[in-house]
Amino acid sequence: MYILFLIRRTMDIPKLFLFAFLVLGISCGPLLPIEPTKGGVVPLPQNVRQTEEFFTVNPSLLQFKITGFTCSILDEALIRYWKLISNSHSSHILRRFSHRLETLWTERSLYLGRLDVLNVHLDEKCKDDDIPKLFMNESYRIEISATNKTLRATTVWGMLRALESFSQLIYEDEQTATLRLNSTHIDDYPRFPHRGLLLDTSRHFIPVKYILKTLDAMSYNKLNVFHWHIVDDQSFPFKSESYPALSDKGAYHPVEAVYQPDDVEQIIEYARKRGIRVMVEFDTPGHTLSWGRGISGILTKCVGISDEYGPMDPSVPKVFQFLSNFFEEISKVFPERYIHLGGDEVPFDCWQSNPNITKFMQTLNITGDYAALESYFIKKLIDIVTIKGLNPIVWEEVFDNGVKLSNSTIVHVWKDGYTNTMNKATKAGKPVLLSSCWYLDHLGGLKDWQNFYKCDPYDFPGTSAQKKLVLGGEACMWSEAVNKNNLISRVWPRASATAEKLWSSITDIDEPVVDSTQMDYMAKRLEEHTCRMNKRNIEAEPASGPSFCY
Ligand SMILES: *[C@@H]1O[C@H](CO)[C@@H](O)[C@H](O)[C@H]1NC(C)=O
Ligand SMILES: *[C@@H]1O[C@H](CO)[C@@H](O)[C@H](O)[C@H]1NC(C)=O
Ligand SMILES: *[C@@H]1O[C@H](CO)[C@@H](O)[C@H](O)[C@H]1NC(C)=O
Ligand SMILES: *[C@@H]1O[C@H](CO)[C@@H](O)[C@H](O)[C@H]1NC(C)=O
Ligand SMILES: *[C@@H]1O[C@H](CO)[C@@H](O)[C@H](O)[C@H]1NC(C)=O
Ligand SMILES: *[C@@H]1O[C@H](CO)[C@@H](O)[C@H](O)[C@H]1NC(C)=O
Repeated sequence: MYILFLIRRTMDIPKLFLFAFLVLGISCGPLLPIEPTKGGVVPLPQNVRQTEEFFTVNPSLLQFKITGFTCSILDEALIRYWKLISNSHSSHILRRFSHRLETLWTERSLYLGRLDVLNVHLDEKCKDDDIPKLFMNESYRIEISATNKTLRATTVWGMLRALESFSQLIYEDEQTATLRLNSTHIDDYPRFPHRGLLLDTSRHFIPVKYILKTLDAMSYNKLNVFHWHIVDDQSFPFKSESYPALSDKGAYHPVEAVYQPDDVEQIIEYARKRGIRVMVEFDTPGHTLSWGRGISGILTKCVGISDEYGPMDPSVPKVFQFLSNFFEEISKVFPERYIHLGGDEVPFDCWQSNPNITKFMQTLNITGDYAALESYFIKKLIDIVTIKGLNPIVWEEVFDNGVKLSNSTIVHVWKDGYTNTMNKATKAGKPVLLSSCWYLDHLGGLKDWQNFYKCDPYDFPGTSAQKKLVLGGEACMWSEAVNKNNLISRVWPRASATAEKLWSSITDIDEPVVDSTQMDYMAKRLEEHTCRMNKRNIEAEPASGPSFCY
């Protein structure tokens, strides 16, 4: 804008257009749409073989035949996917479809007939109340050939991934107005067990409806952890039954901007049915201003600096009693056994300003060492949640500051210079998650998904034993600049690039670089996938520039 303004002051309008035409025309040429794939799967399966032989699909005649075990999770998924396949393709295709079907293709040698019955074979029993976990088995096979039309998986979670891939294999053939599916063999499993999306619901309150939509989109990308960064300095929208004052006083609005217990339950259940874990984060001791509005005496009073309150006050025994009661409730509300305890960006200046803290540190014999005070806090908190059966995850500062952590505490790496941190943390035996290069709030302009796609969790020097400690990673949607109006389009399809990095194989684990062939193939699949998400009511933004979603 500023540049345009400057130009406008020195040129009249026709000259301006001529100038723009010459500069843009000479320097880049027109940016043309990328040709989308037809039936390309995102994230790319580990092994996929397709031929040019094809079936047609008429959704109203398509049947899933359960040939193995089932339970309500699978039964409901079959209905969901049947609806997706039926509803998300252009209506004119479906209308003209039945008339043209048999006559058009029977003579063609590539045509294998209409796919009417798909076997759905689950090898292991599943129960209606199964919950997804870290290390659940998500592997599956798809066989679509003249003699065998089968989805097969060991667990119901693998079958959910199979259904997603199957639904993506179906594409519209515009010339003949048919839905088609090529002969396909897929043998697939994820590269990493933890493939997450972080959503911050504190900077802006995100209504339940948009969280559910986010979960839908996550399942279309085989992401399996909803990291719910539920509260922060700005607001406390979680309704606690043991401490209702937290949201009564700490939320933007005590009713309109609060997740009631049944909202939370609905979100957990919706995610569970899609094989998504809901891992909540209650970040302490920093990022807790909103907590202090409901519960007095838990934050450090800053003395002589502009902020009135700082991080939680470790010198006050009441703080740990409160946290113990609070996390007792949390351990009952969330079935997920991993909990994110935060621990990032603790400002030390407020602690430094408070004489009570200074005195307390003397009794601990850690005078002047604020990292040690943070360690003291985090260690106590880890003990509190551990006895409640929860496994802690912490942001990298906790490790960077030298807190003694057990080798089951997961370190979440988010800062720049991640190759160094990943190396150090895994060398120390800590499991790690990566987010540094997947911050969705950092906008990189046109095609910025490519930056996400170039980033790899194995991109650090380290032994294969160290690399085994990489559990995966998360794309992070911090919500300072995002509310319900732009959330979906900000996240998708950019997070699809992260989803693929976390699911699909790489050619060389010691040098995990993406070559231009891989990048181009992703661009084509992403073009189709973005359009596919749009047809499923996910308002994903254009992936790579000019495009048309048929
Ligand atoms: C699917 O089959 C069509 C022809 O029937 C062919 O043009 C297309 O390349 C095939 N797709 C793949 C991924 O093999
Ligand atoms: C998942 O199940 C498949 C099929 O039974 C098996 O081959 C594979 O090793 C299992 N994967 C994991 C990670 O347990
Ligand atoms: C059909 O394909 C599935 C999945 O690969 C396989 O497990 C099954 O044995 C096949 N059935 C036949 C009859 O070949
Ligand atoms: C220090 O602790 C005392 C006793 O608990 C309390 O009354 C006082 O407000 C505290 N001062 C500050 C600056 O936190
Ligand atoms: C405090 O730490 C110093 C230095 O590590 C040590 O020499 C001293 O014995 C400690 N005192 C107490 C009371 O722990
Ligand atoms: C944690 O792992 C490191 C590196 O493998 C090892 O040296 C250390 O002994 C382990 N710590 C514990 C408590 O098991």
